[in-house]
Amino acid sequence: MKHSTLSQFLLDQKLSNLNIDNDLCKLIESLAQACVRISYRVRQGALGGILGSHGTENIQGEVQQKLDLISNQIIVEGTQWCGAVAAMASEEEEQIIPIPGEYRRGNYLLLFDPLDGSSNIDVNVSIGTIFSVLEKKSDHEQPQEADFLQSGHNQVAAGYVVYGPQTLLVITLGNGVYSFTLESNTSTWTLTHENIQIPETTSEFAINMSNMRYWHQPVKQYIQDCLSGVDGPLKKNYNMRWIASMVADVHRIITRGGVFMYPADKRESVTKGKLRLMYEANPMGFVIEQAGGLATNGKNRILDISPQQLHQRTGVILGSKKEVELITSYHTS
Ligand code: AHG
Ligand code: MN
Ligand code: MN
Repeated sequence: MKHSTLSQFLLDQKLSNLNIDNDLCKLIESLAQACVRISYRVRQGALGGILGSHGTENIQGEVQQKLDLISNQIIVEGTQWCGAVAAMASEEEEQIIPIPGEYRRGNYLLLFDPLDGSSNIDVNVSIGTIFSVLEKKSDHEQPQEADFLQSGHNQVAAGYVVYGPQTLLVITLGNGVYSFTLESNTSTWTLTHENIQIPETTSEFAINMSNMRYWHQPVKQYIQDCLSGVDGPLKKNYNMRWIASMVADVHRIITRGGVFMYPADKRESVTKGKLRLMYEANPMGFVIEQAGGLATNGKNRILDISPQQLHQRTGVILGSKKEVELITSYHTS
């Protein structure tokens, strides 16, 4: 494998794929650079005053941590100037974010979860950033929320950064999944894994078991069958992991297979799921499918969902293809 930098990789992609233009490369490079800055702040920890709650709530009614807002600002300020972005949308902002008048407006819409896994910030467990890139299809001079409401199939790029023992950028441009490792002394992203493929089968699941009493029957039955192990109907023993940072759970699945489930359940706040379609489920669904996996809400492919609202939620079941198909069969039988 050629250990190219992110810039070299993007140039190669542009030369071999007509759909990738200069603006998309500029957007991804400036976003990746913003994530280098977030990584620096993450590593400062208590020394950088980034721990703890900010004391405000976002549109989801969730308490915002200081690092949620710091990361949000770093991404907005780190990408708005690059000339490629028409407007942005963030988990931490109710309204779409316009590009200030002094900068050139491009044709791409950037959606992001600036800091995924907020409950893990203060306990020094892996956290991340998730992003999705769409094209503005309308002629609106000033983009509107409706411009963002496109199904996941329309994504031209998506991925995540995981701030863990290593800082990694995992990205798809619709042409396979690639991962870059950050060399923090030189702020260089170097290609370290290419054409990543998820094993089709697995015996490892990830779900927050404390919600079992709220689950709908298909999920209850599947997990019960997993727990029955080799003597049960699935005839194998399962292992369980739950990091509570989607980015970190998805990255484990990208690396060694598995399934991740955050299904809709009977709690009032989770009737439509907990995770957000536009900047969590769609980008992760795109990455997972590009790596040969599958992402559904139990019934439909995540990428097929027609969004109605910027911050809408969805159930999520994703990972190794055959296991996700098995879980889907519990929902349809
Ligand atoms: P965020 O920190 O962006 O709000 O996302 C947290 C999400 C996701 O990363 C994780 O899988 C899930 O919430 C954990 O939820 P529970 O605490 O309910 O397990
Ligand atoms: Mn999140
Ligand atoms: Mn978040």
